[in-house]
Amino acid sequence: MSAPEWHKAIQAALKSNPKSTTFQLATWDAALSRPRVRSHVFRAFVTPTDAPHLPIVLSTVDIRTPKVAQISANNKVELTWWIEGTKEQFRIGGTARIVPHPGHASGLHEKFLDAVKQAPAGSALAALAKEKIDWEAKRVETFTSMSPGMKASWCRPTPGSPLSSHPNAPPESWPSAIKDLEDGDEENRKHWEVALSNFALLLVEPEDVDYVELGASPDRRTMYKCVDGKWESTPVVP
Ligand SMILES: Cc1cc2nc3c(=O)[nH]c(=O)nc-3n(C[C@H](O)[C@H](O)[C@H](O)COP(=O)(O)O)c2cc1C
Repeated sequence: MSAPEWHKAIQAALKSNPKSTTFQLATWDAALSRPRVRSHVFRAFVTPTDAPHLPIVLSTVDIRTPKVAQISANNKVELTWWIEGTKEQFRIGGTARIVPHPGHASGLHEKFLDAVKQAPAGSALAALAKEKIDWEAKRVETFTSMSPGMKASWCRPTPGSPLSSHPNAPPESWPSAIKDLEDGDEENRKHWEVALSNFALLLVEPEDVDYVELGASPDRRTMYKCVDGKWESTPVVP
């Protein structure tokens, strides 16, 4: 099976608009009884070689942020991605997974390993497991590809915590950049390790996609649904 049409459309839109990598991700916050939404940077698709019809959306998170606890409690999420240059919106619903540091005390890594073990045959996770994907290598490779400034952002005190709760770590004391290990000193290495331990992958396995083309006249909207590993599409009234 080849890549689904919605995936080809995203790839084409990104080719002509490589900077349009921001999408909005909604999660369910049980404590507030409402969704929470925030911006995310799309990093890549992780696609099984033998199942090109099952691309996974890859983004990144700080393991300490509230969205991680929200996803851990309820991993059904939705993201919406507007690409201004092509006037297309992609609304992707699916299941989110967090891939943290293997030694993280939260138990989230074990949870991810369980999800991989229990992934139904024919799913993207199962296909990637069959291909023996090394998720830890993917996490380290993704972290390494970040800019020095971005790397340093995972080294700050817990995101969202009051500044006043960190009297010994004021903002001016935070590292502003983490260099590659071979270019840095011992302090840089410690910062790298702290940042990498807080850094996690966010995977979204798409289950349905609502694709809107506002550039067409009249505009078009197509609903895609993955049923037993096959994408079905229904053109609908926009
Ligand atoms: C343009 C933009 C891109 C962002 N990309 C990410 C991202 O890829 N991952 C992430 O965790 N937070 C990202 N953020 C920050 C989040 O939107 C959010 O403010 C922060 O992660 C706290 O979210 P939470 O409290 O809901 O967990 C981005 C913010 C902006 C403005």
